[in-house]
Amino acid sequence: MPANQFTASFRRVTRSAGVAIALALVSQTGAANPSEKAAELANAVCAACHGNNGLSISDTIPNLAGQRATYLENQLRALRDGSRKSGVMNAIATQIPEAELRGLAAHYAAMPGAQVGSGRSTPLATLAGSKMAFPSDYREKFQHYLTMNFPATRQVRKFFASPSLLENIAAGQTPAEGAAVLVEVYAAQLDDKRQPVMGTDGFFQAEKLLFYTGMAVGKGWGESIPAMLRNGDWQYAVFGQDRSPRQGFSQGECLACHKPLESTHYLFTQKSLAETRAKRL
Ligand code: HEC
Ligand code: HEC
Repeated sequence: MPANQFTASFRRVTRSAGVAIALALVSQTGAANPSEKAAELANAVCAACHGNNGLSISDTIPNLAGQRATYLENQLRALRDGSRKSGVMNAIATQIPEAELRGLAAHYAAMPGAQVGSGRSTPLATLAGSKMAFPSDYREKFQHYLTMNFPATRQVRKFFASPSLLENIAAGQTPAEGAAVLVEVYAAQLDDKRQPVMGTDGFFQAEKLLFYTGMAVGKGWGESIPAMLRNGDWQYAVFGQDRSPRQGFSQGECLACHKPLESTHYLFTQKSLAETRAKRL
């Protein structure tokens, strides 16, 4: 091989080797040094459910600590593009900037994984509990606007809206302070085959009140909620049969799943709310 040809191919080899080395370095630094921005995001948002140390707050949320970085990154991409479905994580993943994906994966991969008996993390203080108080006069003041059967859980739910929410929706306004929805969750009455008994109205016969869920708007109530989870000034709540707030409750999952519904004021049942108002007029 003539000398000049040899040098040319040698240069090509070294150049591509150089690129490969540079890429390897990038990926190594990416994995070894989670960026500060990724850590901030993790502590402000992800910690709400996955815990500060990557150990989650509940049995329905996975631990991330000590997991392989590539696995975490791939899951985040799948949750972002929707090929992996999750009512809670899809909305969050679509908001993660591309630049932080690998950093977040590296952040959790670098943490010690769970040990037997590690237990659960406590929810973020800003999402623990709720500012929504139980609307004790809802039976007199609120409007019953919707009933839904839930065959999988053998439940039937009854939805009640505050008069001001119905007015806001009818006027096309953003729900303002005082707007609220309260949902009664009942176990359905079961027949001999343990199937729900259907009432003449097409809904399961309600047998026993199990608990209530609710959402309400208050002035500035959204300010303490991380932007990625914030639903305007709505806050969410769960109340027991005795109407007291559920202990250890965190709003994270409620906010995350309702978050994509910005165009309907974070309400899944806006259509029914609008129709209810129309009927009353
Ligand atoms: C509101 C609660 C909540 C928040 C906040 C949250 N997650 Fe999740 N995350 C979940 C749930 C629930 C799942 C399980 C999803 C499913 O059902 O597939 C999950 C799954 C994941 C997974 C897949 C784990 C696995 O084992 O496959 C990754 C990765 C992840 N989350 C990363 C993040 C990151 C990074 C953030 C912050 C930007 C974040 N999550 C914020 C609730 C949350
Ligand atoms: C995985 C998604 C998801 C999560 C998590 C979730 N919701 Fe919802 N929510 C829905 C859907 C869907 C509806 C519409 C009615 C139905 O199908 O249950 C709804 C309806 C509601 C309504 C009636 C007003 C409306 O938006 O139409 C209230 C109140 C409510 N949810 C409260 C909560 C509370 C409190 C939590 C947390 C404990 C929560 N939700 C968590 C999906 C979710």
